[in-house]
Amino acid sequence: MVTTSSNGSNEAFLADYELSATTPENLGAALDQTYRALEKAEVFFGHGSDSAWDEAVFLLLSAAGLPLDSGDAVLDHALDKDVWECTLAWLQARIVERKPLPYLTGRAWFAGLEFKCDERALVPRSPLAEVIGTQYTPWWSGDSPSSLLDLCCGGGCIGIAAAMYQEELKVVLADIDADALALARENVELYELQERVTIVQSDLMAALGNEKFDIILCNPPYVDAADLASMPQEYHAEPPQGLGSGDDGLDITRRILAAAGKHLSPQGVLFLELGNSWEALDAELADLSLSWLEFAEGGHGVLVVRADELASISARLSSSSAES
Ligand SMILES: C[S@@+](CC[C@H](N)C(=O)[O-])C[C@H]1O[C@@H](n2cnc3c(N)ncnc32)[C@H](O)[C@@H]1O
Repeated sequence: MVTTSSNGSNEAFLADYELSATTPENLGAALDQTYRALEKAEVFFGHGSDSAWDEAVFLLLSAAGLPLDSGDAVLDHALDKDVWECTLAWLQARIVERKPLPYLTGRAWFAGLEFKCDERALVPRSPLAEVIGTQYTPWWSGDSPSSLLDLCCGGGCIGIAAAMYQEELKVVLADIDADALALARENVELYELQERVTIVQSDLMAALGNEKFDIILCNPPYVDAADLASMPQEYHAEPPQGLGSGDDGLDITRRILAAAGKHLSPQGVLFLELGNSWEALDAELADLSLSWLEFAEGGHGVLVVRADELASISARLSSSSAES
C-alpha cells in the first residue's frame, strides 16, 4: 500500500531518500537534503546540468522563484511550506519517473537564453549554440547572412537564438511535429520575434517550396538503434520522434543531405548535427573528406557543408543506396 504524507509526497519515497516531511528551517538545509537525494538516486545528467549539486541548486532556486545566480546569502532564507512541497514533488518525479529536470521546472537555457521547455519537444542541448555564438565563421564569409532555416526545430531554441544574436536575420523554424511547433510558437512570442521568425510544419523541407537560405542549422533525430536501446531512462521521457533515425542513425540525415542543396543560397552553409552517428557517415563517405566541427564548449559530430559541396555528397549517397 502506498501512503501519502500530509504534504502529498509518498512516505516510502521520503524515507528512502531521507527527506523530511516537515519543511526544513532554511534554503541551505533544503539544498542539502535535495542534493543528497539526487546523489543517492544516481539519476542521469544529460539535460542541462552535469552534477547532482547543479541540479539541486537549479531545482531549489526554481521552486523558490529565485534567480539562478543568487549568491550564498539566500541559504539563510526561511523556506515556505509550499516551496518545500514543490521541491518534494519535483524530486519524486525526477527520481521515480526519471523525468529530466527542465520538464519539471518548465524552463531551459540555450546559448545563454531562457526558453520554455516541456514534453512537447526535446530539452535544448545542441552544440550548435557555439556555431551561433561565433556567427558561422569561418564557414560563412562576407556580410552577415540574411536568412536562416532551423530545420527540425523542436521548441525553436536554435533558430530563436540565431535571431536574437543577429538583428534583422529572417528565420524559418520547421518541424514535422505540431506539438513541438506549438511550443516553438510560445518561445517566439516570449522573445517577441513574430515579425522575423516564421513557423512552418513540414516533413523536412517539403513544405518550403523553392525557398533558399544563407544558413541551415539542423539538429535532426540521429540516434542509432543500438544507442537508442541503451539510453538512460531520462531520454525516454522525450518525444521519440526527436531521437531515433534508423539502424545506423542516418535515415533522416541522408534525406536532408539529398534535399538541402535546393534550399541553400549559392554561398550558403549547412551545419548538420549527427552526434555519435557521425562516424557512420564519415565511413560511408570516406572518399569525400567531410568537415567536422570542433567545439570549445563540448559536443561533437557536427558536419559543415557549403552549398557547392552538396551535389557531390548527394550523388555519392544516391549511388551507395543504389548499390545496397
Ligand atoms: C533532436 S530534436 C531537435 C529539436 C531542437 N532542434 C533542439 O535542438 O532542441 C529533432 C526534431 O526533429 C523533428 N523531426 C523528426 N522527423 C522530422 C521530419 N521528417 N521533418 C521535420 N522534423 C522532424 C522532431 O519532431 C524533433 O523536434
